Amino acid sequence: MAADQLLDDECQIWWARPDQVPDDQLAAVVPEAEQRRAGRYRQRVDRQRSLTGAWLLRTAVAAQTGEHPDEVLLDRTCADCGQQHGRPRLPAGVGIEVSVSHAGDRVAVALTRLGEVGVDVGFAPLIGQFDRDLAENTLSAKELAALETSDNPGAAFLQLWVRKEALLKATGHGLRMPMSRIEVSPAGEPPALVAWPLDIPVDGVRLAMLNPGPRHHAAVAVLTGQPLRIRELDADLLL
Ligand SMILES: CC(C)(COP(=O)(O)OP(=O)(O)OC[C@H]1O[C@@H](n2cnc3c(N)ncnc32)[C@H](O)[C@@H]1OP(=O)(O)O)[C@@H](O)C(=O)NCCC(=O)NCCS
Repeated sequence: MAADQLLDDECQIWWARPDQVPDDQLAAVVPEAEQRRAGRYRQRVDRQRSLTGAWLLRTAVAAQTGEHPDEVLLDRTCADCGQQHGRPRLPAGVGIEVSVSHAGDRVAVALTRLGEVGVDVGFAPLIGQFDRDLAENTLSAKELAALETSDNPGAAFLQLWVRKEALLKATGHGLRMPMSRIEVSPAGEPPALVAWPLDIPVDGVRLAMLNPGPRHHAAVAVLTGQPLRIRELDADLLL
């Protein structure tokens, strides 16, 4: 069995840096339409993060399906406007759910057969700092109170943020649903969904924190009631 084979009970998280994949490999794998999409970013580093995410998604999926990475069929239809900039999905028959996130020096791709998945990475350039207005708009009163007493409110806020955004990416809502309508366990405690206004019961959702490295925080959410095993892998294995 190949070391990177996706097992039925796991969620694989593939990590890359935005400068990890040589340009010729990016160009060989990412189709022109997706390259044009990345071109909408004005800053080179943003384009590089988006292209690396597209490369990592295609290459990690192809390692499971045996296709060439540029042949992987991806649908990115936006639920709002129908354009190809929404959540990525594979054809239903493949049986693998995927999610992509990029921030700072990290690009993450999640792959699982357990259920719909959302991954989110956040970057904290300034240790300890956070935007109080943003916290008031995105946290519940209880979460905000816990933040006030935290030793490092900046890191605690980012942990709550990535937990909530991972959940909203798993459901496909993204930031269309206000984060304040979701309550998660406090930073520093095992990650869990406490309450949300959706029909999916909280015990039908698994949440885990990831290891993106210094100054980053990351979480993954999977819509499953089964236990979740996380395996984090480096993109070097795919190069
Ligand atoms: C999904 C969303 C939360 C991601 O925000 P972000 O923090 O800037 O970015 P991240 O790096 O974590 O994730 C970006 C990836 O999420 C994926 N994505 C896009 N929409 C998504 C959705 N609704 N659900 C799950 N994933 C989504 C894409 O793969 C995207 O990467 P790519 O564009 O490079 O392929 C945000 O884009 C959103 O809320 N989108 C829905 C609302 C919206 O913009 N609608 C468009 C109106 S026309």
